[in-house]
Amino acid sequence: MKFFLDTANLDELKKGAAWGIVDGVTTNPTLIAREGREIEEQIRLICDIVNGDISAEVVSTKAPEMIKEGRELSKIHKNVVVKCPLTREGIMATSALSREGIRVNVTLCFSPSQALIAAKAGAYIISPFVGRIDDISWHGMDVVRNIVQIYRNYGFKTKVLAASLRSPTHVVESALAGADIATMPFKVLDELFNHPLTDKGQEQFLRDWAKVFQEARG
Ligand code: E4P
Repeated sequence: MKFFLDTANLDELKKGAAWGIVDGVTTNPTLIAREGREIEEQIRLICDIVNGDISAEVVSTKAPEMIKEGRELSKIHKNVVVKCPLTREGIMATSALSREGIRVNVTLCFSPSQALIAAKAGAYIISPFVGRIDDISWHGMDVVRNIVQIYRNYGFKTKVLAASLRSPTHVVESALAGADIATMPFKVLDELFNHPLTDKGQEQFLRDWAKVFQEARG
């Protein structure tokens, strides 16, 4: 399973990259706007930090403009994956860009029927939003599970990226569901490390070591 960071923040990306466990980055207009730079510049800076798929989202709403924007975004760096929304216009743009060999991450997916459409349009990635589905009292992870099953049934190559993840449990459940990729905020990646027995065990090892070797020397 690949781990992507769901952030456009350079400090967070540098910290995550230093652990050597970050395979890519997802951004969206909200995350880019938060950093205060033009999208081209911010994506270029991100590509310098993480060597992997970097998703950059179009903001046009009509297919011809989305296609134009997608082509421009894809020129920023070879690792850029263009993100298109799961609207009728977005799917039209996805089909066109995919035919040109531009990789598209179809975003704002909330159902298996939408995921089927994205796969048929040639999407490279489908992004079901787990947390936002949970927010409306539905089961986000069931959507991921069903998409994985449907893609397996028909041999669709589109990768399933579990998005809108809010906790370490979401990440583990995505892995159990068979998602190809989990994208998560830096905070969630950091929380994946935590276990009280690791801390307790480490303290004990160092205490025992110090008792024999440091006291003997001192
Ligand atoms: C990633 O591709 C999505 O844009 C992101 O995971 C959405 O997360 P949110 O629901 O926490 O905003």
